Amino acid sequence: MTKLEIKELNPGFGVEVSGIKPIVPLDEGTITELRNLFDDKGLIVIRELDADLAFQNYLSQLLIGNDKIVEADAQTDSKAPAREMFVSNKRENGGAPYGRLLFHSDRMWSPQVFRLLSLYGVEVAQPSVPTLFVSAQNAWKTLPEDLHAEVEGLFAVHGHDATYENRSGDDGEVLVSTFEQDETVKLPLGFTHPRTGKTILYISEMFTQRIDGMPHDEGEDLLRRLFGHLYAEGNIVTHHWRKGDLVLWDNIALQHARPNVSLEGPPRTLRKVFGPPPQITLSQRPKFQKIGSAQ
Ligand SMILES: [Fe+2]
Repeated sequence: MTKLEIKELNPGFGVEVSGIKPIVPLDEGTITELRNLFDDKGLIVIRELDADLAFQNYLSQLLIGNDKIVEADAQTDSKAPAREMFVSNKRENGGAPYGRLLFHSDRMWSPQVFRLLSLYGVEVAQPSVPTLFVSAQNAWKTLPEDLHAEVEGLFAVHGHDATYENRSGDDGEVLVSTFEQDETVKLPLGFTHPRTGKTILYISEMFTQRIDGMPHDEGEDLLRRLFGHLYAEGNIVTHHWRKGDLVLWDNIALQHARPNVSLEGPPRTLRKVFGPPPQITLSQRPKFQKIGSAQ
């Protein structure tokens, strides 16, 4: 079995792991250790790994229990490229090419929220804009008693980017994603993670539209106080990108964000893999614009 070295990134969540060799399949002992780390810590960072798409996809599926499905794919190049996409300020058709992103979980507005996301540093020039993480699971665990009592039994409605106006202030750098079809989902604020069974403070500044059944101002006031706890400095892990970094996280238990990326800035191309692979129709793909240019 491979001997892994584990370094804690935050007392509440996140680990940096070294000692992994990017081969498919990994041995059973390593798989078990990585799965346990992922369920417990929610964020795994592997520095400067020579990982191709097949390995990134394999590890992304493995951590949520799908490794047998993709093991065969990973060993043949033919199917893997179909799942390739990039977050990039340089590549044509790169996702989220510019702008600042508020904290969110991808597709939080859907019952089919992605269970895992991973990014791999394909081209990273310095100084590179970091990715920020918070743990909504840790936020629930550490929620002060008075706030805990207030959210008991409440539900929140999540939808597409309807909240920028309220949550970003005057920051014209915030990126707005627009969708052709509206989609919302209503879930408990104390949401049970489908795989780990742990409770998560399930709200985000990007996608949460309102507290269900609560007058607007009262709901915004409660959300503001909850965001103050969720996005507190001590609950943030900042990942400074280098070429070859592979970062995998639980997209339900954790949220991610980033400061402003500019098209003129240093190249920042990150290969993105979803777990499980998305079944996104064309109408659900976002278009991007900055708040400053929104009409
Ligand atoms: Fe995202």
